[in-house]
Amino acid sequence: MTVNLPLQAPSAAGLVWNVTRNDAAKTAEERAAILADPGFGNHFTDHMVDLCWSEKGGWHRPRVSPYGPIQLEPSAAVLHYAQEIFEGLKAYRHGDGSIRTFRPYENAARMQRSAARLALPALPSEIFIDSLRQLIAVDGDWVPSAPETSLYLRPFMFAKEAFLGVRPAKKVAYYVIASPAAAYFTGGVQPVSIWLSTKYARAGKGGTGAAKTGGNYASSLLPQAEAAEHGCHQVLFLDEGTYLEELGGMNIVLVFKDGTLVTPESDSILEGITRDSVLQLARDRGHDVESRKVTIDEWREGAASGDIVGAFACGTAAVVTPIGRLLAEDFEIVHAGSASSELALSLREELTGIQYGRLEDRHGWMTRLDA
Ligand code: PLP
Ligand code: COI
Repeated sequence: MTVNLPLQAPSAAGLVWNVTRNDAAKTAEERAAILADPGFGNHFTDHMVDLCWSEKGGWHRPRVSPYGPIQLEPSAAVLHYAQEIFEGLKAYRHGDGSIRTFRPYENAARMQRSAARLALPALPSEIFIDSLRQLIAVDGDWVPSAPETSLYLRPFMFAKEAFLGVRPAKKVAYYVIASPAAAYFTGGVQPVSIWLSTKYARAGKGGTGAAKTGGNYASSLLPQAEAAEHGCHQVLFLDEGTYLEELGGMNIVLVFKDGTLVTPESDSILEGITRDSVLQLARDRGHDVESRKVTIDEWREGAASGDIVGAFACGTAAVVTPIGRLLAEDFEIVHAGSASSELALSLREELTGIQYGRLEDRHGWMTRLDA
């Protein structure tokens, strides 16, 4: 292992990063084999980035080191009380070879909101962006160039203080790891089926639903397994047993016959950056967009009358994926045919066009990471 002692200049965020190169990094051939068929979340790049936070010292000890196990005491608070948050965003390879990411300041801001809810310290946006740049500086070769592939970046923060009392930890760690990614759903961009969970809720009023915290995902695993048992790809949660909320790992949008797009409004769902962007693109095309409460009965009746012609899921991992079917214990909604997925697919095409640099970035959403 080569330690390059920190003689380099401070980064834009004013940090001096200590970089330790991974001497056991994958060879170019090994990396190419992985990038040829990355799947989602299966492989990790050669390095990771981390910083520590303490009550007294604030954010300190910025490091780039070989990807590998994290040492924690068994009493580390995160292992007991789940004081943890994360983010997800992608790095895209553009035609000119540059590496760019999509609206990272929004992820940074959301991580700050999640941190506030989970009583974790706020990571300044400049450090968040810097941390992504540092990882790309050593692992840029891991950003794939095949269509629809990217490098998924996973920043996360957790309570590492060794203490069993129940209070906000005074020692916290922040890391970024990266994983080359293809389509989230196996089978590519086909309409997916979703299962309506009526037995389990994801979040409640005043809970942590709007935060990107591991506990929300832990509570979605059982209903997600139920979805899989019913042959469905994702689970849809309801608010108060009535209002559409979101899927286990993505937001939902309904498509009306007149082109109006409706998405659930609630303080218990994760405010998706993809959803916000796709709805902006739809507004740019002249679509009416509504963010409001939507009951499951409205969807059911609208689908039966023909007023609602489709639905789609959206998120960093899922991008935009048409929903072909909603299956519930005692009913089913089917959005068959091309009309229902046409709009979703054309919005996906436009969004990915911007993300991969094929279309003009008219909203100024892209940020370069490799320069
Ligand atoms: N909702 C949940 C529960 C998610 O996990 C995600 C994915 O991050 C989203 C919504 C969509 O958020 P974004 O578009 O910012 O990725
Ligand atoms: C993301 O889209 O970034 C998520 O965190 C969702 C998860 C299903 C991977």
